[in-house]
Amino acid sequence: MTNPSTTSWAIEKAQRLQQLPPYLFVEIDKAKRRLIQQGVDVIDLGVGDPDLPTPPAVIKTLQETAEDPANHRYSFTEGLSQLRQAIAGWYQRRFNVILDPATEVLPLLGSKEGIAHLPLALANPGDVVLVPDPCYPPYRSGTTLAGASVSAMPLLEENGFLPDFGSINQKAARSAKLLFLNYPNNPTAALATEACFQEAIELANAYQVVIAHDAAYSEIAFDGVKPISFLQVPGAKEVGVEFHSLSKTYQMTGWRVGWVCGHAKVVAALGELKSNLDSGIFQPIQFAAIEALRGDQASLGEAVATYQQRRDVLVEGLAKSGWEIPKPKAAFYVWATVPGGGPSIDFAARVLEQAHVVITPGVGFGAHGEGYVRFSLTVPTDRLQEAVSRIANIL
Ligand SMILES: Cc1ncc(COP(=O)(O)O)c(C=O)c1O
Repeated sequence: MTNPSTTSWAIEKAQRLQQLPPYLFVEIDKAKRRLIQQGVDVIDLGVGDPDLPTPPAVIKTLQETAEDPANHRYSFTEGLSQLRQAIAGWYQRRFNVILDPATEVLPLLGSKEGIAHLPLALANPGDVVLVPDPCYPPYRSGTTLAGASVSAMPLLEENGFLPDFGSINQKAARSAKLLFLNYPNNPTAALATEACFQEAIELANAYQVVIAHDAAYSEIAFDGVKPISFLQVPGAKEVGVEFHSLSKTYQMTGWRVGWVCGHAKVVAALGELKSNLDSGIFQPIQFAAIEALRGDQASLGEAVATYQQRRDVLVEGLAKSGWEIPKPKAAFYVWATVPGGGPSIDFAARVLEQAHVVITPGVGFGAHGEGYVRFSLTVPTDRLQEAVSRIANIL
């Protein structure tokens, strides 16, 4: 019998896949796996995946609705109307923004799925998509997979990690179809200002560019801060959409449920694309999402208090060994300049090899992330404390 995975001719990946940037963390990943295999106790502050449990009422709703055979069939791409209504209700309560659940809301299989597909729905090959740098990687990969070109908008510390819209290349702006924004920001943890959103709306109208704001971390904020929605700003719904996720708000990363809302034409274009790609969200997950949005919100307050305490443990702990890092006001990340300078990838490799702690090199989020590293606050406080003392020993 021939080996089924060998052919006499080469199977090659499509060019669009070959165009994706190489995975930068191969060496760090290899080193991490090697250490774990050797039985070393590695603390992973790399991934942004909450360790806290999903609220019990949400799990119970999934269990109960999964028993009903009516929920075992294909669901519609546009999702249950009750879910779209629950999303619109949450939006009105949280941001005082009115959405039409029939046309301005679309549930997604996690917001990553919608974000990565949006360029395919809106941009043609050769079009430009304006993408923040550093950024959550799917803005770039989704653009590349759609055959469009990425034009980077640097997020600089001196600008509060907000884009400088005035410095956007005019030629790129004229060819742009879409512009991504993300606040509270991953990886920098920066917050948006209303002025920043207003400028984005002006740019959108001047160059006919759709704005897509990713608000995955809108509910994770500290010291009494309440992040704003892009759609709260007058004129926003006429030029764009906002992505939300239940992943971070309700500790539901594995459940795969989020949504996009805003301009009906953009929502419809993404819905049309998705109707060709997937067959909706498992209905019990949709019912569970309704429970998350409408039910008791106590777990959110508890999670935020936990992340805030962890932030303080990390930032205050590292400050004691001379590494001064500003305390972030939102998201569960700490974005820190590499002590003593040098490539972020080398520093992250040293922290892994010598302190057995995984942190993410900033350059993995884009060229303007170089010089920084990102810590994720998604491990229990005692593990974070342990990570701090191990890092302090090597600084
Ligand atoms: C900025 C940002 N947006 C969106 C997501 C994706 O969330 P999900 O696909 O789980 O809804 C993430 C996940 O880390 C993120 O950091």
